[in-house]
Amino acid sequence: MNSVERIADLRTRIRYHEQRYYVDDAPEITDAEFDELMRELIRLEQAHPECADPDSPTQRVGGRPAEGFATVEHLEPLLSLDNAYSPDDLREFHGRLCRALNMSGDTAVPYVAELKIDGLSIALTYEDGRFRRGVTRGDGVRGEDVTSNVRVIRSVPLALKSAAPARMEVRGEVYFPRADFLRVNEAREAEGEPAFANPRNAAAGTLRTLDPAAVSRRGLRAFLYQVVVPPGQPPVADTHAGVLDELRAWGFPVERHWRRCQGVDALIAFCESWREKRHDLPFETDGVVVKLDDLALRVGLGATAKFPRWAVAFKFPAEQARTRLLKIGVEVGRTGAVTPFAILEPVRLGGTTVQRATLHNEQEVARRDVREGDLVIVEKGGDIIPKVIGPVLSARPDPLPSPWQMPAACPECGTPLGRPEDEVVWRCENASCPARLSRGLQHFASRKAMNIEGMGEALADQLVSAGLVRSFADVFRLEASALMALDRMGRKSAANVVAEIARSKTSEVWRVLHALGIRHVGEGAARALAQAFGSVAALRAATVEQIESVGEIGPVVARSVRAFFDAPANAAMLDDMAAQGVVMADAHENRSAAPGPWAGWTFVLTGTLAHRTRDEATAAIEQLGGKVSGSVSKKTRYVVAGAEAGSKLDKARRLGVTVLDEAQFESLIMEAPDT
Ligand code: IVH
Repeated sequence: MNSVERIADLRTRIRYHEQRYYVDDAPEITDAEFDELMRELIRLEQAHPECADPDSPTQRVGGRPAEGFATVEHLEPLLSLDNAYSPDDLREFHGRLCRALNMSGDTAVPYVAELKIDGLSIALTYEDGRFRRGVTRGDGVRGEDVTSNVRVIRSVPLALKSAAPARMEVRGEVYFPRADFLRVNEAREAEGEPAFANPRNAAAGTLRTLDPAAVSRRGLRAFLYQVVVPPGQPPVADTHAGVLDELRAWGFPVERHWRRCQGVDALIAFCESWREKRHDLPFETDGVVVKLDDLALRVGLGATAKFPRWAVAFKFPAEQARTRLLKIGVEVGRTGAVTPFAILEPVRLGGTTVQRATLHNEQEVARRDVREGDLVIVEKGGDIIPKVIGPVLSARPDPLPSPWQMPAACPECGTPLGRPEDEVVWRCENASCPARLSRGLQHFASRKAMNIEGMGEALADQLVSAGLVRSFADVFRLEASALMALDRMGRKSAANVVAEIARSKTSEVWRVLHALGIRHVGEGAARALAQAFGSVAALRAATVEQIESVGEIGPVVARSVRAFFDAPANAAMLDDMAAQGVVMADAHENRSAAPGPWAGWTFVLTGTLAHRTRDEATAAIEQLGGKVSGSVSKKTRYVVAGAEAGSKLDKARRLGVTVLDEAQFESLIMEAPDT
């Protein structure tokens, strides 16, 4: 099999395994095997830019910059749904529907009941079986074109498995599985970003980010449930159940718990059956959507300005509980953000015991007027993070406690708190605040950073308060005798921690970069930077421009990285870490110790060069530390155009990317300084 055939073969295999994993939930190979297939395809596509294809699975790892969002008109308006909150509301809906269809109220009308996914509506356009565009709901008539972000959602097929209408809009919901939502929030908190309140907000925020690579890492998913064809075209099935079957056959993910229900009693039973069971699902659902199954009858019923008359959303009540607010505490995060939280008398809520709830910020506490000692109503926002809704006013303690006030100084180090005029979050600006240090140290040692087993919250707190760790470099000076003097540290655990610390000195570079806690640098960015630069020293020497030219790294991250290394205290700490024997460089077969003069530069080759084959040109670029990519973006440093260069040349001109002819390319190589 030659390379071109292998590319086609890999694309087919990867698509198949994506379908097994993301749509069928039945993977056949391990993640590592899948990654290996993907890596091979990336490698081959880089070596054969002429095989570039926007529908290739590699395009889902992101990297293509979105240029803001244009608005696009939907094929027909995206309506919302009227709500039903009780069995009586459902009976009323059924009664209205029967009257409009001239049926008796006890007709066993065929309905389909589906779980209501707590996500964000999306409309996907397919032309000739290929994904063309993804658009948000917007105002229902026009939505935002988020195609490049939808393209990286792996459960959305880029090419359909069987024949479909020449043009159609497939509608559904983009959502976060619970586990991915929790992971995204952990990462955000670790990076000093505010956590998303619920999976729905997280999905909305993610779909609107301008960086498809970030979207790709977060793990959004989709379920589809509707097909709209252009006016005059025949529908894809006679019933809604038939549409769901078609969707499935085309390769779309369809939520599998839907059922046909004959008549309103069957509907009510279905809704009731999910009231508790829903907590065991891997995603959030806030209700059941009831739809008339017969599509011809739907046409007769029509819609009001906002809602179709043939469907209704049965909403489960948000789960609430009452409990006593014992105290309002504040916690200091790794970035110095100081946030209030409620300490509650433990109470059962939505399957778990709640004793802490978020109060967001000072303004929220004032707006809800919650005071220590109040009986409060707590609710699970998106059924995951408990929040305090407000006090039960009729049960206020007498005398009334005074309103809560944000402390003026950091509870940990006494530094006066500061708040920029246009922000709501107060911060402790003392970089050596023990709370900040301790949270930072905990992150430094965590599994996705230096992975120092045994150095959790309890040990981090003690190391900081005993003055044993004042900077990350101190970690590498710790001795077993000093550790043994701490609480709950026997000889054996102390020896283990010391061994773990010694082992961590040779951690991969991405771990070190992640561990340092540079603002906006999460695991993904750390991996990209490590891959591009290979060592902390090379990254320290890079300009903002070189950092930004790494695929996946945007200007905010690049500036933040530069600012981190420019701070004298950080530079001293890194030198100190190096002096303690922390390696901070990856051994890499193709990378010399120095980064090469073209580090961070991406080249795109197009057309035919007279003096070098494509492989030779690629090798020359890589030798000098540069990278070759198959597609032109604003981050491309140079497009090298040989004879008969094609569309990449046009794109380079459109984006203002510098184009080199073969002679200029050869001079650039000649003039490159030796490494
Ligand atoms: S059908 C005209 N089915 O809920 C009918 N919607 O509260 C369009 N939703 O805007 C919607 N799961 O974003 C339908 N299985 C499901 C759904 C669902 C979630 C969302 C959808 C809609 C909103 C209305």
